[in-house]
Amino acid sequence: MSNDDVVNGRRFWLVGASSGIGAALARELRARGAHVAISARKAEDLHEVAGGDMVVVPLDATDRQAVSAAEGEVRAALGGLDTVVWCAGYWEQFDAARWDADSFQRHVEVNLLGLNNVLAAVVPPMVDAGHGHLVGIASVAGYRGLAGAEAYGATKAAQINLLEGLRAALRRHGVRVTTVCPGFVRTPMTDTNDFPMPFMVEAEEAARTIADGLEAQRTEIVFPLPMAIMMKVARVVPVRVWSAITTRIGNPADG
Ligand SMILES: NC(=O)c1ccc[n+]([C@@H]2O[C@H](COP(=O)([O-])OP(=O)(O)OC[C@H]3O[C@@H](n4cnc5c(N)ncnc54)[C@H](OP(=O)(O)O)[C@@H]3O)[C@@H](O)[C@H]2O)c1
Repeated sequence: MSNDDVVNGRRFWLVGASSGIGAALARELRARGAHVAISARKAEDLHEVAGGDMVVVPLDATDRQAVSAAEGEVRAALGGLDTVVWCAGYWEQFDAARWDADSFQRHVEVNLLGLNNVLAAVVPPMVDAGHGHLVGIASVAGYRGLAGAEAYGATKAAQINLLEGLRAALRRHGVRVTTVCPGFVRTPMTDTNDFPMPFMVEAEEAARTIADGLEAQRTEIVFPLPMAIMMKVARVVPVRVWSAITTRIGNPADG
């Protein structure tokens, strides 16, 4: 391990790594020489991902006390903590016309309040140590409003904004922040979607792209390239134009 290494020999905690992108990223980082701890609710799945070669600490991210206790456990097991990756997430197609308040609340509970619980556990010790790296997996779905993604997109937009503010606040304390915005990735989360998912990539490819981005010390990792270009352009399209396009498309759930 050299002083420039940000993966090899470093201690990572991935929250939301029992499946999908988090699981693939945990394996990829371990293969690149990182020491890895993984968390999520499904203990059995975590152990399968770990293959006896990672620290496993099951938790529900919406339980603040559990997250705080897990942070101590991970730190003790790894002998410290360099990088925390927030991979957990909740998505379901939203029907705004029938406003499902429970669904909206669940998105907020996992995607925002779960992240809040993790940040509460890891930020103060990182600031005290004057060292650390926070990585948040948001989504390009946070760039613009889309019918059917009102709940998910709102939490992803909030994550992007939150991570940007955090980056500005914590740099002077020695803590770096990286925002990851994937396009469509084949995982249990997208398995049930029955609408077109352009430029879809496999979870392993997503993990390699994220690990490459971390090694290159990128501030923002957006992929795959065609989706990144499309959504970066979408971000600057005037509201009237975006609304005209997306109103015509409507909610894919409406058929
Ligand atoms: N797949 C895509 O196309 C895509 C695109 C853009 C962004 N993303 C984002 O990428 C991240 C990973 O998603 P994925 O596609 O890999 O989906 P996934 O396979 O469903 O993974 C979600 C992970 O979050 C964990 N999780 C969910 N609720 C949790 C809770 N309350 N406490 C702790 N862990 C919890 C799940 O584990 P347990 O069920 O065991 O708790 C699982 O490990 C998410 O933030 C998602 O929004 C995905």
